[in-house]
Amino acid sequence: MATRSVQLVCLLIFSTAIIKTASAKINESFKQEKGIDHAYFVDRSIVQNALSKGAVCLDGSPPAYHLDRGFGHGVRNWIILLSGGAWCRNITDCLNRSKTDLGSSKLMTPFIFLGIFSKSKSENPDFYNWNKVFVRYCDGGGFTGDIESIDPATNLHFRGARIFDAVIEDLLAKGLKDAKNAILSGGSANGYPAVLYCDRFHNLLHKAHRVKCLVDAGYFIHVKNPRLANVFESLFRDVVTLHGSIKVLPKSCTSKMKPELCFFPENIQQDIKTPFFTVMSAFDSYQVDNIIGSNIGECIRARNCTESQNNDFKGLYIYTWVK
Ligand SMILES: *[C@@H]1O[C@H](CO)[C@@H](O)[C@H](O)[C@H]1NC(C)=O
Ligand SMILES: *[C@@H]1O[C@H](CO)[C@@H](O)[C@H](O)[C@H]1NC(C)=O
Ligand SMILES: *[C@@H]1O[C@H](CO)[C@@H](O)[C@H](O)[C@H]1NC(C)=O
Ligand SMILES: *[C@@H]1O[C@H](CO)[C@@H](O)[C@H](O)[C@H]1NC(C)=O
Repeated sequence: MATRSVQLVCLLIFSTAIIKTASAKINESFKQEKGIDHAYFVDRSIVQNALSKGAVCLDGSPPAYHLDRGFGHGVRNWIILLSGGAWCRNITDCLNRSKTDLGSSKLMTPFIFLGIFSKSKSENPDFYNWNKVFVRYCDGGGFTGDIESIDPATNLHFRGARIFDAVIEDLLAKGLKDAKNAILSGGSANGYPAVLYCDRFHNLLHKAHRVKCLVDAGYFIHVKNPRLANVFESLFRDVVTLHGSIKVLPKSCTSKMKPELCFFPENIQQDIKTPFFTVMSAFDSYQVDNIIGSNIGECIRARNCTESQNNDFKGLYIYTWVK
């Protein structure tokens, strides 16, 4: 019993010390503005050796992530998040993006960790002491691109798939290879690669007891209803073509349908063997407001949708999210 107490006290002191160091980084103005108590900034780590593999951001700079080390009984647990941020579908778009932090690690600043990345045990009881990695998105192609040639006129690089591999390799060397529990997650545009690479990630972790994947808001409206625009199918056609994503799309899918259709997670998820968890709101506010149209977002909020609006919405809900 005495030994236990000593261990517990040591653990408490150890944890407090770590929390203290991090709390020095807390952004006071952020805390006051948003009323969030446990948010803290984490510096970026540049993956220098990715350069030799040509695993680079749109502008040719090396990729980056933000890593906060686990502590206590979380030291061998890892949660990795592929951050979202739409896609670039043509040269103009990608050139523009290459001058932002979504296309160049030169422009990335420290990133704020909160919510599922919080260090607070009360706020984040499941993951507070895990190793947490926020992978920055800088390829514009959802971590799927792999084109060798570079047009000297634009100097744009389409290498997202290589970035995923280079980042995971770097993390394996930093302790991920000894992970006991690990989660590969992705949000929005990068929910898709969290499904696509889920089994590959699992297979790299030989010592792990549990490996799972998490897709957060990663499903995009795809309906046959001709009255509603097929926004994402045409977008994904452009993305897959521009970024040369076909190489990484599962053959089990591309043998059955067009490559752009294999960019929808619902068309590849049935072949994933590793357990994965989906978080998707049927009322995804971005898509309800910007894609569905017919003022559905507005009538949902005002609770006065007409029967035909309700039918559009139900049709979408059934076609898209519940397969
Ligand atoms: C703190 O957060 C605010 C946003 O709430 C941001 O404008 C500011 O640049 C941040 N400060 C630092 C030092 O990162
Ligand atoms: C590139 O894509 C954007 C939308 O993402 C569009 O507004 C623009 O017209 C496109 N440019 C070209 C040259 O196709
Ligand atoms: C270029 O990016 C900026 C944001 O950095 C955006 O406001 C602007 O609309 C973009 N222009 C084009 C042509 O996409
Ligand atoms: C629904 O309510 C909103 C807000 O009160 C109003 O602007 C809109 O005109 C209403 N629509 C219908 C069809 O009644």
